[in-house]
Amino acid sequence: MRVIGTVAELQALADRERAAGAKIALVPTMGALHAGHLSLVDVARKRADRVWVSIFVNPTQFDSADDLSRYPRTREQDLQCCRDAGVDVVFAPECDEMVGSAGQTWIEAGEPAQPLCGRSRPGHFRAVATIVVKLLLAAKPHLAVFGEKDYQQLAVIRSVVRDLGFDVEIVGAPTVREADGLALSSRNVQLHPEARRQAVALVRALDAAEGALASGEFDAARLLQRATAEIEKAPLARIDYVELRDAISLGPVAEKLVNPALLALAVYFDSPERDAGRAVRLIDNRVLDPRRAVSSR
Ligand code: PAJ
Repeated sequence: MRVIGTVAELQALADRERAAGAKIALVPTMGALHAGHLSLVDVARKRADRVWVSIFVNPTQFDSADDLSRYPRTREQDLQCCRDAGVDVVFAPECDEMVGSAGQTWIEAGEPAQPLCGRSRPGHFRAVATIVVKLLLAAKPHLAVFGEKDYQQLAVIRSVVRDLGFDVEIVGAPTVREADGLALSSRNVQLHPEARRQAVALVRALDAAEGALASGEFDAARLLQRATAEIEKAPLARIDYVELRDAISLGPVAEKLVNPALLALAVYFDSPERDAGRAVRLIDNRVLDPRRAVSSR
């Protein structure tokens, strides 16, 4: 496995691989790799001859210096994970290589970047879109794989790639979960053990809304109530948002669901011990399809 630190070297390798007819898949990550990331590597391997993983903690997409400094960094472990997973190249640039230059150019992602995390985290998606474009220009992959766990991020990237006419296929991959249903996330290690136990409320909320839809509840407000009630059972949970959005456009949904809708959650989990740590923000989502609910009744 090769570890590459500069854009120029990665581009030169991409040119050689492409000239030799190899199909390259890129899996962009911020490291602290877990089974969710590795599932993207598996998807990539099935579709390409070369699997490249990028590991870069992009400082511009964090909400605060504090959040950035708390983000887990496990470089040696990550490299070993990639070796074990049969990754061909890890692109692990220093910060200056990716964001140190003039920094004058940003990709504004438009409509899909506005609601949900776009509202809670101003500037987040322009930072994500910009770094992803930079990674695509560096690796020149034929395809790039992203997790549906970050559904809005995937929607933003699809929209940017379409709008800019990028010659790359964007592939979405399903969310990998812990045994109790909590979606794997690099942030889970920051949870207090009691908050970790309560975090299962997220998947319970998704299950409750899906169950209600399956038994004939199409009213958006009532579906949101079902989800919210599950989260409110967790004393350490503080809701950032619980929303239904159109699953394709991320625009508003009708009062009664007719088209597939994204149920999206963002919830802070506090620590039970005062001053023992700051809140950890987790997100999760599920697409609720009213048409499937009708046909299965
Ligand atoms: P990061 O949070 O490290 O996630 C890297 C990729 O792994 C993303 O596509 C994310 O959706 C996916 N992923 C995370 N948890 C997952 C899970 N439980 N199951 C399946 N896939 C999962 O997302 C980012 O990094 C950054 O924003 C990035 C795109 C790299 C740009 O900086």
